[in-house]
Amino acid sequence: MSIAEDFDPTVYLNGEWGPLSEARIPVLDRGFIFGDGIYEVVPLYAQANGERLPFRLTQHLARLERSLGKISIANPFDDAGWRALIARAIEANAGAGDALVYIQVTRGVAKRRGHAFPAGITPTVFVMVGQLVFPSVETRARGAAAVTAEDKRWLHCDIKSTSLLGNVLMAQHAAEHDALETIQLRDGLLTEGSSSNVWVVKGGTLLGAPRGPRILEGIRYSLIEELAKEAGIVFEERDITEAELRAADELMISSATKEVMPITTLDGQRVGDGRPGAVYAALYGAYQRAKTREFGL
Ligand code: PDD
Repeated sequence: MSIAEDFDPTVYLNGEWGPLSEARIPVLDRGFIFGDGIYEVVPLYAQANGERLPFRLTQHLARLERSLGKISIANPFDDAGWRALIARAIEANAGAGDALVYIQVTRGVAKRRGHAFPAGITPTVFVMVGQLVFPSVETRARGAAAVTAEDKRWLHCDIKSTSLLGNVLMAQHAAEHDALETIQLRDGLLTEGSSSNVWVVKGGTLLGAPRGPRILEGIRYSLIEELAKEAGIVFEERDITEAELRAADELMISSATKEVMPITTLDGQRVGDGRPGAVYAALYGAYQRAKTREFGL
């Protein structure tokens, strides 16, 4: 059985396992009151033997540790602790098909509302197995639409924070324009999508916006860099102007839930010849091979 709409996963919340529909947090949880927390989304790929295995888990756990460190929340588990917890979540939600693991850690529950960190509170830990809904085969073959907007978020976008209002508004902007993603620009330079990194191809060269506080470095960022190398595609990490974005031969986005996805219209204009391009095809193929390689199949 694949994960259906009414699937009520068994989730982990602060040491307890139970159905998602019954999981509760106190209203003074800092995640609820201030968005004071960190999250991760890890893809789980179904194997021929029916097992689901997390992809690039080492890198996701390292980013979780970095994000927690940047907002001074002590990591509630070490590497082995997280791996055991995730393995148990997968086991408790056995089923066919790809899925994902969602992890959230907040600063914990305060006694009263006040902005600064309360002393001596324990982080809230939540782990859930969820549905991994990939874009349809038709969308992938045709490519998706994107729109642009000014990036109005804060300047710590490198932290994978649950304070996602800026991203939420950008995702809604895309939905209202029948687009898959909003591609953001700050000071005339490309930053990233509402929930993805963005890739520009010009003259056969792959361009990515610089890693740093203006973007979240996706786990797929380094992966795509590796895959480009493997496919003999030149990669440059550098500032990309709005004019370069609009004159791209190819555009792509990447994320845990989209893998690498071609964008064939931008603000209603065709990107390149309006079809998924050769660099996309090479990277998507290499991505699928990397999955097989990672699991030693
Ligand atoms: N989002 N940039 C932003 C702002 C993101 O939210 C994401 C992922 C990425 C890509 O990161 P990765 O390759 O590690 O998935 C870049 C996840 C999927 C989400 O919020 O659901």
